[in-house]
Amino acid sequence: MPTVLALETSCDESAAAIVRDRTVLASVVASQVAEHARWGGVVPEIASRRHVEALPGLIDQVVAHSGVALAQLDAVAATVAPGLNGALLVASVTARTLARLYGKSYLGVHHLEGHLCSVQLGEPLPPGPSLVLLVSGGHTELVRVDGPGCYQRLGRSHDDAAGEAFDKVARLLGLGYPGGPAIERAAAAGDAFRFPLPQGRVSRPEGGYYPYDFSFSGLKTAMLRQVRALEAVQADGGECLPVADLAASFERVVAEVLVERSCRCATDQGLETLVLVGGVAANRRLRGLLEERCRREGLHWRVAPLAYCTDNAAMIGVAACERLSAGLCSPLELGVAARMPLEQAGRLYAPEPSF
Ligand code: KG4
Ligand code: ZN
Repeated sequence: MPTVLALETSCDESAAAIVRDRTVLASVVASQVAEHARWGGVVPEIASRRHVEALPGLIDQVVAHSGVALAQLDAVAATVAPGLNGALLVASVTARTLARLYGKSYLGVHHLEGHLCSVQLGEPLPPGPSLVLLVSGGHTELVRVDGPGCYQRLGRSHDDAAGEAFDKVARLLGLGYPGGPAIERAAAAGDAFRFPLPQGRVSRPEGGYYPYDFSFSGLKTAMLRQVRALEAVQADGGECLPVADLAASFERVVAEVLVERSCRCATDQGLETLVLVGGVAANRRLRGLLEERCRREGLHWRVAPLAYCTDNAAMIGVAACERLSAGLCSPLELGVAARMPLEQAGRLYAPEPSF
């Protein structure tokens, strides 16, 4: 069973982990959220600088917690795509330097493959292919997984990712950044059925709808209109903005849309297992609704453990162990890429680096 040090710096979390196959020996995450919150979103230059400052200390911590010395590792891995270029470079250069110094294998990992693998840190998956709903700050995708590295995208968002929609609506409601947890907290005391909101269907040019695709821009606009209308009433002496009801109604619609289209896709495609991963998978209403619907429809379901939904290095370590066990590693010359579809993740293990 391979033992891997994994590093993750693709966005605003600096993370390190030591993973042995699917067992996390140590995992730490240093979040920069508080700093970016002042700007209402991630500032790339600040992110890179903070990763440079944080990463050496995080590596020391996981080595100390796990009791595994760097010399005992089989490989060092880093997220290399997709993400913010400057941020990705921090983990990539650090991992390649350590691999070179200690004579270890190096693996560049696709961030979304990491999210897909996060579910393996929980209960084992039923055998056979599965449908994964991957919902994060940058992606909303329905991916058929037939085995390690065998991915087919069956659905996607045509505009904002689900997490992005949470972040933007939270800003609209004055709830701060990151929006997902803030909306979830505000929604707890709200009436989720007070405001009817659109389901965001994506039309086909030839008529009808794409059955497994998503759109959150109409929902965002509907929230804006609703808030403006309520503010006008408020100016005339009406009640103050019902933030809890607005947040709960928004959260309900997003969860319903995600779960409905995922279940429909799984059933249509004959896939018996539905998997939920990514930062938005931390949302309790979404987790609960997915469980309820899967039970009703007779589907198996798995949800990534709460601690491994938002960005972390343990999931990157699991992805790296899977590739390493298949006899793969990356050339040390491999760089980073801001964009790269998940289906191309296998290119990270080609002898000639593609970037
Ligand atoms: O996976 P992740 O940590 O980073 C990316 O790869 O993008 O996802 C971050 C996203 C943010 O948009 C954040 O608002 C959202 O996940 N998020 C949540 C919750 N926790 C984080 N959204 C809804 N409910 C939550 N509890
Ligand atoms: Zn992520």
